[in-house]
Amino acid sequence: MITSAININDEMKQRVVKVFKSKFGYPSEVIVKAPGRINLIGEHTDYNEGFVLPAAIDYANYFALAKSSGPQIRLYSADFEQLYEFDKNKIEQTEDKWINLLLGVINELASYIGHFDVVLSGNIPQGAGLSSSAALCCGLGYGLSELFNLKLDKWTIAKIAQKSEHEFGGVECGIMDQFASVFGITNHVLELNCRTLEHTAHEFDISGYKLLLIDSGVTHALETSMYNVRRQECHSAIEKLKNLSVAVNSYQDVSINLIEEQQSNLSDEEFRRAKHVVSENIRVKEIVSLLRNRDFESAGQCLLAGHKSLKEDFEITCEETDFLVDELVQYEEVLGARQVGGGFGGCVLAITKDRNLDVVVGEMKKKYRRQFHLSLRLIPIRISSGCMVV
Ligand code: GLA
Repeated sequence: MITSAININDEMKQRVVKVFKSKFGYPSEVIVKAPGRINLIGEHTDYNEGFVLPAAIDYANYFALAKSSGPQIRLYSADFEQLYEFDKNKIEQTEDKWINLLLGVINELASYIGHFDVVLSGNIPQGAGLSSSAALCCGLGYGLSELFNLKLDKWTIAKIAQKSEHEFGGVECGIMDQFASVFGITNHVLELNCRTLEHTAHEFDISGYKLLLIDSGVTHALETSMYNVRRQECHSAIEKLKNLSVAVNSYQDVSINLIEEQQSNLSDEEFRRAKHVVSENIRVKEIVSLLRNRDFESAGQCLLAGHKSLKEDFEITCEETDFLVDELVQYEEVLGARQVGGGFGGCVLAITKDRNLDVVVGEMKKKYRRQFHLSLRLIPIRISSGCMVV
């Protein structure tokens, strides 16, 4: 298993190095990788100053970079076979999301860097909610820091990447994805307090059990627009709660009791969004202690409660992911499951026993195809390290 991950790493690295040489006619200087992430639990809590529990995974974007004396900066995507050249002092958004996200990072660093060329390629499944965008921005930030010896610390890179998503990607995302991509540690899940940015790495020993990541294959167009709407709803709920109670400065000061007491002062949406955030924060803490005790049965129940909350209170699941969760938990091998990521599709993450999984996945594929005429994809994952020079 370990050998195959190393091979993939090496293959991806060789690919960007080779493409760089053939595209630009001279060798690259720095090669970096920036991984995607999963999130065990703590969904839509990051921009609400709550808790999250993500981990970097062994799917990543790879970058080969070198300083250049050319008149422009050149970005080349080996996957899209697309080249974009531009003047450092004239950064304008384009039609392409991948270019815009990179431009956002360059825009932040423009006064500290010279011209450069970069080739990138990645194997993070697209549209699966595994944060390929964060990996794109973090990887370039990390790579430029190495190339121009900027000595940016990890938080600076994560925040530059987040700003690019806000200003060049149109998504008012929180900091979880960038944090996981930059800070990831092999075989550890990372607990982050998004209010204080304090974080703790917890060793993740799942031997005897498994994390199963299943791509529903659906990405609903709603994702970006509804993400920003949910953020707004959570904001208006907490602003009201702050006005109603002097003890409240952020969601971390809110209890379920308090929301229930104040229900009549909140709109129905505000009440349910706030309830999700507060209960999800509790679930992060709960799962951390369950994992410490290797109580995977209860951790599974926690995932299931998380999904119910995403469905009923936060209203960001969809027919397909609800179906997957409902059907998966019919199997005695599956201890719990939930939709992960921004919402309205993407992947479902399950905690399972480490047996009969071929049968479970085989049957699930058939059921899913029968129901939605769609293919299910199993994405084998391992928890890996964050951004690094490779
Ligand atoms: C997306 C965002 C994150 C986070 C999750 C939901 O992945 O980029 O900041 O809000 O959705 O938990």
